[in-house]
Amino acid sequence: MTGQDLAASLTTYAASLLTALTPERREAFLLRVERWAPDLLEGLAVFDDEAVRRGTAERLVGVAARAYAARPDDLHTLDARRLLRPGWVQDPGMFGYACYTDRFAGDLAGLERRADHLERLGVSYLHLMPLLEPREGDNDGGYAVKDYRRVRPDLGDRDDLRAVTTMLRGRGISLCVDLVLNHVAREHAWAAAARAGDPEYRDYFHVFDDRTVPDAYEATLPEVFPDFAPGSFTFDDELAGWVWTTFNAWQWDLDWSNPAVLVEFADVVCDLANLGVEVVRLDAVAFLWKRMGTSCQNQPEVHQLVQALRATTRMAAPAVLFKAEAIVGPRDLVAYLGGSEGGRHVGRVSDLAYHNSLMVQVWSMLATGETRLARHALRALPPTPPGGTWITYVRCHDDIGWAVDDGDAAAVGVTGEGHRRFLSDWYAGEFAGSWADGLVFQANPATGDRRISGTAASLCGIDADPGAAVARVLLAHTIVAGYGGVPVVWSGDELALPNDQHWAEEPGHEADNRWAHRPRVTDDHLPPAPGSAADRVLGGLSHLARVRASLPSLHASLDPEVLDDGLDDGVLGLLRRHWSGTVVGLHNVTAAPRPVALSLLADLGLATPYDVLGEAPLTADADGLAWLPPYGAWWVVDR
Ligand code: GLC
Ligand code: GLC
Repeated sequence: MTGQDLAASLTTYAASLLTALTPERREAFLLRVERWAPDLLEGLAVFDDEAVRRGTAERLVGVAARAYAARPDDLHTLDARRLLRPGWVQDPGMFGYACYTDRFAGDLAGLERRADHLERLGVSYLHLMPLLEPREGDNDGGYAVKDYRRVRPDLGDRDDLRAVTTMLRGRGISLCVDLVLNHVAREHAWAAAARAGDPEYRDYFHVFDDRTVPDAYEATLPEVFPDFAPGSFTFDDELAGWVWTTFNAWQWDLDWSNPAVLVEFADVVCDLANLGVEVVRLDAVAFLWKRMGTSCQNQPEVHQLVQALRATTRMAAPAVLFKAEAIVGPRDLVAYLGGSEGGRHVGRVSDLAYHNSLMVQVWSMLATGETRLARHALRALPPTPPGGTWITYVRCHDDIGWAVDDGDAAAVGVTGEGHRRFLSDWYAGEFAGSWADGLVFQANPATGDRRISGTAASLCGIDADPGAAVARVLLAHTIVAGYGGVPVVWSGDELALPNDQHWAEEPGHEADNRWAHRPRVTDDHLPPAPGSAADRVLGGLSHLARVRASLPSLHASLDPEVLDDGLDDGVLGLLRRHWSGTVVGLHNVTAAPRPVALSLLADLGLATPYDVLGEAPLTADADGLAWLPPYGAWWVVDR
């Protein structure tokens, strides 16, 4: 069968599934199948066998058709709205917040009480950390899911989730939730069936009888949790074999070369979509495909699988967007927005991806007080694929890994290894003169790797010097908000909360200091006392969100140009040329005032420079220099 014939037969098949719908509604679905079947089939080329491809395509269209038929009316309306405004997530008014539901609001129902806080901050996008039912005991912050169809019982149930998405949407907030798709908990029904000896489910996992194959893989596999989960395979007595466990021993990697796994997850995504979830975060997506002799990350098949999943979701629920969680090196990032293999997947995989490189460079600039490496690294990035949008962030719920490219480092006269070591020392507070108060996560003596945990305020030295720390926290967020994309603030950072000193006291958390930077936000924190550090950061961030929303040039479709010539080394300059006018963001990453020549701005077309953040014109001294205050930022327009 040709691709075209196959696409046509899928449409006929879909029609047969939807006879109970009105002709209009059936027609709308069939148009989507016609539109997205080619994407689906291209993605399914990941499977070698033609009969497997055909069967899987049919099963996926079946999943989509059933979800479509069950989709509530208000969500059909949402689909229609989004299809009329496909670039909605690129709007400068997008401003995100991420939190654990229980740590921020107690439970799902409690979110309503926190909605005013989110509104004050200017939030239009909320990422709730894993909320599906995890295994009992330690579950990696919910990233070991036992049942994808149930909500974590202490947070509420599916009805509560549905109510939350509706409540949020009423306030102009889109909900993003995690889809943990690289692995399931050892207690998940699939893993339980595999353990009970069911061969069908054993095939959902990578299981090996002895160490031969695992040893061969491990020769090139980096370790994610060398401290508390060394190695990437775990012997399981019930399986009588070694199962692939990239993360913890009780997180079993799924075998995505088995098409049944793809069909299962398509069904899970459609289910979340029908609960009103608008953005699905593809957790640890880089790890989905394994290839001997590689790091088993960023393999091309990952993008094919995501494309197939995406095409299926688009048939059922076109409002839903995908966000790739791929915390990878700078050169590998754009692939997740479709930019691999000559852009073959542009517009067909994830809409959003984490700008891990920008995050790392923000911390590097603050520690060194200079911008040369950041300029070089950011300028060296390939252009963002069209339609792709970055999640820009200062830090997240995970540790910070120093993804500094060796070539970028060498270009500015340092070594990658030396600079990474410096950053770990600095943020662990071990380097002379450091104000930072972070914790070392997963030191790996074999590689010298030392990742860092800490809240933004603690990494910025809130204990050593609150005034400077507030300025640094605000500056860091100003850089990421001015870069483009969707800036996301991690819970607690908007209130300058320090590391949770009691993180290790919670059962199951004692070995994982990422809990130090997942502090609880309680009623005592809200609203913060006027003039406090919390109040200043919250006020600063909400001002930032509002200024940003007023600038069409902050639309995410525009990549900023990182300025180089003529700027002081302590200043990061981001130029955005847009039909609405040019904006130049200037950010002083040092503790001293830094000069900016107004002639430079005039050359860029800003003859009467005006700072929209401080709402004041820039004034020059006798030498034609304007002085950017310590850790200050100006977003300059011509006025
Ligand atoms: C992602 C999550 C992280 C988790 C890992 C394994 O990277 O962000 O918290 O440990 O996946 O699921
Ligand atoms: C994910 C991320 C990695 C992080 C880890 C655990 O694998 O890719 O950067 O360190 O989760 O937090």
